[in-house]
Amino acid sequence: MLGRRSGSPIPRGGPRSDRARTHPVAVKLSPFFSSLPNMALCFQQAGAQGLVLFNRFYQPDFDLDLLEVVPRLELSRQQELLQPLTWVAILSGRVPLDYAVTGGVKTYLDVLKAMMAGARIVEVASLLLKQGPECVRPMLADMQSWMEEKSYESIAQMQGSMCQGHVSDPAAFERANYMRTLQSYLPLETRG
Ligand SMILES: Cc1cc2nc3c(=O)[nH]c(=O)nc-3n(C[C@H](O)[C@H](O)[C@H](O)COP(=O)(O)O)c2cc1C
Repeated sequence: MLGRRSGSPIPRGGPRSDRARTHPVAVKLSPFFSSLPNMALCFQQAGAQGLVLFNRFYQPDFDLDLLEVVPRLELSRQQELLQPLTWVAILSGRVPLDYAVTGGVKTYLDVLKAMMAGARIVEVASLLLKQGPECVRPMLADMQSWMEEKSYESIAQMQGSMCQGHVSDPAAFERANYMRTLQSYLPLETRG
């Protein structure tokens, strides 16, 4: 971030950079940090105003006939939303930053979920590449209808309403819940 050599530590509570104070800085994070809450805090203390969750790394494939590494661009799937959704829900009540969700946003319901997790911004790339910018208007209209049906007056009213601190089962976001999640698995043939 901002000219810092990779690998050098971010100062905790140190003086904020002048550039960060005058220009809002949002950092797009990798999902692979061992402690995302600690990283979020470090970025906040270093002067970032926002975090974008998450960077999506494009991984090349191997061509076994040519013995070459080949670039491969796969557009995202909706399932990918769950990772940023979980982390925004965990972080947004803890580290006061503006959060953006990116990865797997395909429908107006995905946008609403991101807002309820605590995001202020939703970024959409794959859907726009597939369907073109025309898909945005119906998404916004569907969001508005949904909000009217559920009597929400504004996005602000729902923002963070399903973050970890506000849901009835906060442990649902945590690894301690792993066994319960595994036990909830139903083999394909038994699903309704
Ligand atoms: C063709 C393409 C180009 C992209 N270029 C960038 C880029 O330059 N910088 C960046 O941070 N993310 C880039 N992204 C990632 C997107 O911003 C986004 O984070 C990612 O595609 C996940 O969102 P999606 O599920 O809506 O596609 C690119 C994505 C695509 C498909």
